[in-house]
Parts: sequence; C-alpha cells; structure tokens
Amino acid sequence: MEVAKLLTKIDKEDLRILMAIEIGMKRSEFVTVNNIKFYSRYKMEETLFRLKKVHKLGLIIRDSSKHEIAYTLNSKAYDLLALHALVEKNIISQLGPLIGKGKESDVYGCMDDNGNVYAAKFYRMGRTSFKNIKQLRDIIGERGHLSWLYVNRLAAKREYEALEKIYELKLSTPKPIGYNRHIIIMSYLRGKELIYIKNIKNPLKIFKRIIKQLKIIYKKGKMIHGDLGEFNIVVDEKGTILIIDWLQWVSTDHPNANLLLERDIENVCNYFQKKFNIESNIDEIISSFYKN
Ligand SMILES: Nc1ncnc2c1ncn2[C@@H]1O[C@H](COP(=O)(O)OP(=O)(O)OP(=O)(O)O)[C@@H](O)[C@H]1O
Ligand SMILES: [Mg+2]
Repeated sequence: MEVAKLLTKIDKEDLRILMAIEIGMKRSEFVTVNNIKFYSRYKMEETLFRLKKVHKLGLIIRDSSKHEIAYTLNSKAYDLLALHALVEKNIISQLGPLIGKGKESDVYGCMDDNGNVYAAKFYRMGRTSFKNIKQLRDIIGERGHLSWLYVNRLAAKREYEALEKIYELKLSTPKPIGYNRHIIIMSYLRGKELIYIKNIKNPLKIFKRIIKQLKIIYKKGKMIHGDLGEFNIVVDEKGTILIIDWLQWVSTDHPNANLLLERDIENVCNYFQKKFNIESNIDEIISSFYKN
C-alpha cells in the first residue's frame, strides 16, 4: 500500500503539521495557514515549508478561493496519521494486502513485530455513502459541522468498544488488538464470508453454533448485532466462524431491540434454509432468546 511507503518519507515535523490541520478540522473543513501555524506552534517559515512538502506528497488539499489560503487533510493523510500512531505504539509493524472491502471500509491484513497476523479495518464513510452517517447522527447528536474525519473516528471507536465488550464472553468475535483514529486492529480469520462459501462440511453444526453464540451475546452481553447476515460471518475451511462488523450493534434496551434481534435471526435462518436446506422454526428460536 502506498501509504505504508509514505511513512518512510515523512519527518516528525510533517506529521506535526498534519496533526495541526487535524485539530483545526474540528471547527471547519478547511484550516487557514495562520491557524495551522498556531496549532503546530511552528514559525511561519517552517509552517509554509512543511505545508509545501506534504502538499507535494499528495496529503492535503488546498483551497485558494478565499482571501486566506487554507488546507484540509485527505484520506491518505488520515491513514498516515493513524498508521503512524499504531506503529509507534507497537500494535502493528507492517501492512499487508487488501483482504476485504465492505460497504464503508477497507480491510487489510497486517502484522506485528512477533509475526502475528491481524485484520486492519479502515473506516471510509462519508464520501460514498450516507447511510451510516444518518445512524451516527443519532449517536453524535446534531452538530453544525460534521467532518468525515470525525465520523470515521467515531465509527471505529464504536466498533472497537463493541469488540471489547463481546470479547469478554470468549465467543467467535474478533479479538480487539488496538485502534487509532479510523482504524481498528483485530484478530483475523483466514476464511470467506458465508455468502461466498460453496459447500461446508456440516452446515447444521455451523448454523447451531451461530444461533448459540447470538443467544449468549444477547443474554449475557445484552447486545444485538443489528446487521447480521451472510456478509458478516466469516467461515474458514475447518468450520471456524467469526461474527464481524459490529458498528451497528445496539443494546438490548434499545427501543428497536426486538425488531433488530428478530431480523438478525431471520436473516441467518433464511439463509441457511435457502442455501443449505436447513429447516428451522424461526418463532421458536426467537422465543428461546426471550426466555430466561
Ligand atoms: N477480522 C476479520 N477477519 C477476516 N476477514 C475480515 C475481518 N474483518 C473484516 N474482514 C473482511 O472484510 C470485509 C469487510 O469488513 P466489514 O464487514 O467489517 O466491513 P463493512 O461491511 O464495510 O462494515 P460497515 O458496515 O461497518 O461499514 C468482510 O466482509 C470480510 O471479508
Ligand atoms: Mg460487512
């Protein structure tokens, strides 16, 4: 990945300039040179020199239409800041290939110093899709300026916290390793999404395993996935499963909790019925969730 290479070309002064723009972006999308100078606490000369360099490297976007020139970070710069922090904190040391592309994220393989392989999910909301932004609005509340930076950082935080919460239950959900800004690092299962699996040895066993886990997550974790289906369950050759993509989770006391839980269960039941001919009684399964 290009960003990983960029990390070697960049000085800590460049990072500081990028971080100064990041701070300014809390207030407005474009940050004036004067404000960048203020937040970085560099002299004007150094500020201009660094801005020129990171602009050349393709990390910032210039707006010269107003009387004062202003800049904003692009997503490459944001990737760079987050990756830099993750490397500094020794959470990862190398980025690998793209392993998945979700609706609003890119997922890469990555590695730490000890050769452990993880998945790195980069949130990329806001530019292509506004579906989740609407949902995030509910969480954030109304705010005048809602930058993509903030939205993606918040999404990563929300999913990471969900992973931490469920991880305590020791089920088949990704182990949270660390996060920074819009990137989360989690355990990786070398497999495929259920939808791309042609045939598995014991689909009934896998079906039961999924339902059982959902029930534990519901009863003990008091959580509901909220976006479950054949896209968000990864299965490997041995039949190990991983229930991923927890951004849209809700707690069991959410006003739509029952609706969302039932939809999750229906999605799983219908899919196993359609694809593997596994008959199940959806109503019975649902009521077993509500029983103590
Ligand atoms: N921990 C993981 N192990 C293996 N593969 C993963 C893992 N996390 C994600 N993937 C792969 O990346 C793809 C996209 O991930 P995910 O479903 O979390 O993103 P998304 O659909 O964009 O999420 P969201 O709806 O939150 O924007 C998955 O379908 C899967 O193929
Ligand atoms: Mg997904």
